[in-house]
Amino acid sequence: MKIKVGVFFGGNSVEHEISVITMNQAISSLDPEKYEIVPIYIAKNGVMYTGDDLLDLYSFRDMEVLLKRCYQVAVVNDGKGVKVMRCPAPWIGKRVLNTIDVAFPIVHGTNCEDGTIAGFVTLLGIPFVGPDILASSIGMDKILQKKILRQSGISVVDFVPFYSVEYIKDEEKILKEIEEKLEYPVIVKPGNLGSSVGIRKAKNKVELEEAIEFAMEFADRIIVEKAVENLKEINCSVIGNLTETEASICEEPFFSDEILSYTDKYIGDGKTKGGTIGGGKAGSAKLGGQKGGAKGGNTQFANKKIPADISKEKTEEIQKLAQEVFKVLGCSGVSRIDFLIDTKTDKVYVNEINTIPGALSYYLWEATGKSFEKELDEIIEIAIKRHRDKEKLTFSYDQNILAMQGGAKGAKGGKTGKI
Ligand SMILES: Nc1ncnc2c1ncn2[C@@H]1O[C@H](COP(=O)(O)OP(=O)(O)O)[C@@H](O)[C@H]1O
Ligand SMILES: [Mg+2]
Repeated sequence: MKIKVGVFFGGNSVEHEISVITMNQAISSLDPEKYEIVPIYIAKNGVMYTGDDLLDLYSFRDMEVLLKRCYQVAVVNDGKGVKVMRCPAPWIGKRVLNTIDVAFPIVHGTNCEDGTIAGFVTLLGIPFVGPDILASSIGMDKILQKKILRQSGISVVDFVPFYSVEYIKDEEKILKEIEEKLEYPVIVKPGNLGSSVGIRKAKNKVELEEAIEFAMEFADRIIVEKAVENLKEINCSVIGNLTETEASICEEPFFSDEILSYTDKYIGDGKTKGGTIGGGKAGSAKLGGQKGGAKGGNTQFANKKIPADISKEKTEEIQKLAQEVFKVLGCSGVSRIDFLIDTKTDKVYVNEINTIPGALSYYLWEATGKSFEKELDEIIEIAIKRHRDKEKLTFSYDQNILAMQGGAKGAKGGKTGKI
């Protein structure tokens, strides 16, 4: 029997479209002999849809037509399994459209990758691919993540975090704190976004104020970091769980301006090889250019070098560090850990983890010798094993204290009412 994999994608995030592309790449590499794909598209308003048209990247060019051709659904655990039910229920015809054995969230960004979808699939009570709620939330939170990494002895840049409300209340106090703790240039970021949205570099107080105001448009918590100079960025992917991890070859993404921007990540200058959205390995799978959307397009780093231009020793140092970060943050499945290197001092800083990386980092694993198909097999296996291990833990204490509280009246504060 094939395993029914419910692929959740889309979501209310600035990286919605990137998720659609990553999902499309993944499904073209899921072994059809082993898996049946059940697409669950989460529209930006949170409504879920299923339907075969969702498997075709081409159909996303016209959302109105696409959604008309799909079914609006609710994904529920009815006590016997996870069902994909038509919602609202039809008067006639099938109510249960499908079932799901394993959930596979392929989402990026806030309201999705930040633990929101992990929470949803945890409630469904079936195995799910990727990090649990806690690791997902910390993975998206640039502030808590840095605090945990620092506490664990992992090198991160100096930073000052604050809430927007604090800044609005006393701007000068926060600016003073930043200038006391960090030297210019600094990088200002929204506390929990991705894809470089809302991020700016500041070289003086005026730029700092502008950058903070800009970041505050996107989030209510802000982090200001010391900018790493003489910067080289290196990324490394890790596959595994809490006990076993494997690190990929490293990549070096190139940026065209001061920071690695949204354009650098997904669009590029069209000159360099390696997947842009719609470019891609074999030049197939142009966004909207070809039916069936095979894996060509690569939702990460239009301009990059694989392997990265660093020594064998540096590569090993980063691979080791990447696995440490993965474990410290309690990850599972496939992640990508991004590093900043000051090439003058040779010092390596962990920038961030991406717990559901663009393109699921398949291009790094292929360069390491693992096919995308194998990568997907492995992370699904990890999900199933984690679920089995979790089932061995005790989650409920089978004492019905409500039944022991002096009957129905008790609940309302009857004779024995206090719990
Ligand atoms: N401390 C830093 N020093 C120098 N450049 C930085 C620093 N932090 C971020 N950047 C630049 O900004 C880019 C985006 O920042 P990042 O924290 O990775 O946010 P996102 O989650 O949006 O990718 C990085 O890839 C890098 O180019
Ligand atoms: Mg980044």
